Amino acid sequence: MGIVIQNKKLKPEHYLLSISLPGVQLEPAPGQFCMLSCGPTTDPLLRRPLSIFDYFHPKGKNPPRVDFLYRVVGTGTRLLSQMKPGDPIDIFGPLGHGFDINNSLEYALFIAGGIGIAPLPYLAESLLEKHGSIPGLVLVGAKRAEQIVAVERFKKLGLEVTIYTEDRSLGERGCVTDDLEQGLKPCLEKGSMVFACGPTGMLAKVAERCSVLKIPCQVSLDRRMACGVGACQGCAVRVSQGSSSSPDSMYKRVCLDGPVFHSGEIMWTWMEEADRCPH
Ligand code: FES
Repeated sequence: MGIVIQNKKLKPEHYLLSISLPGVQLEPAPGQFCMLSCGPTTDPLLRRPLSIFDYFHPKGKNPPRVDFLYRVVGTGTRLLSQMKPGDPIDIFGPLGHGFDINNSLEYALFIAGGIGIAPLPYLAESLLEKHGSIPGLVLVGAKRAEQIVAVERFKKLGLEVTIYTEDRSLGERGCVTDDLEQGLKPCLEKGSMVFACGPTGMLAKVAERCSVLKIPCQVSLDRRMACGVGACQGCAVRVSQGSSSSPDSMYKRVCLDGPVFHSGEIMWTWMEEADRCPH
């Protein structure tokens, strides 16, 4: 059990939830997530998966603190937004396979669509900690200005940020993928990596261009999750290396094998089709 320290409304739909974790030792990898209960009752029954937005482990006796950036999209997140400082919260994690940050890196391009920005600042900080200063660019997109959050953390790291909004209420008009060719140009140099998180259509476009240009790309997928630990199979996605004779090899579980994958692993046509199906 954690204790809510703050649950701050940043924008009309976006909140920053900070949780103290007394007696807990964890060092989450960037890209991992936690499953959080949304209130004190069993309705809704299922925890919600949220990417780790930040993590602090102060020296001394103070307990670690984990932060989540989330957007209110339904009953669970609406209840979560009503939690107050001091409330106990059931939190389970860190879970999943995060971003691979071990290889040498000369240039990083971060691409975020909407609330897909959540895992990327912690990733950028971890990369800088590991590799020292890295030149890079951040492309952030959303429908409206009020859905643009957390870009200051990239700016503090010295990264250039370009913002896109579909209604041009902030930054450039359009989507992050509109100027993708331009953004990908510096990645043609050896030692570059693209890190992307956002809606499936955006990720599919990024993956397609990276595949054509032979640029390594890691994507963090957002799927509905029930268990978060690989038991229910509810978050399975079709992968491109699967063999039809072995159904197990055709799918990977986002909660256990991901949420971060190398973009070439995913069968994007299947993902886009699955997203079009009513749940
Ligand atoms: Fe149950 Fe992934 S959420 S297997």
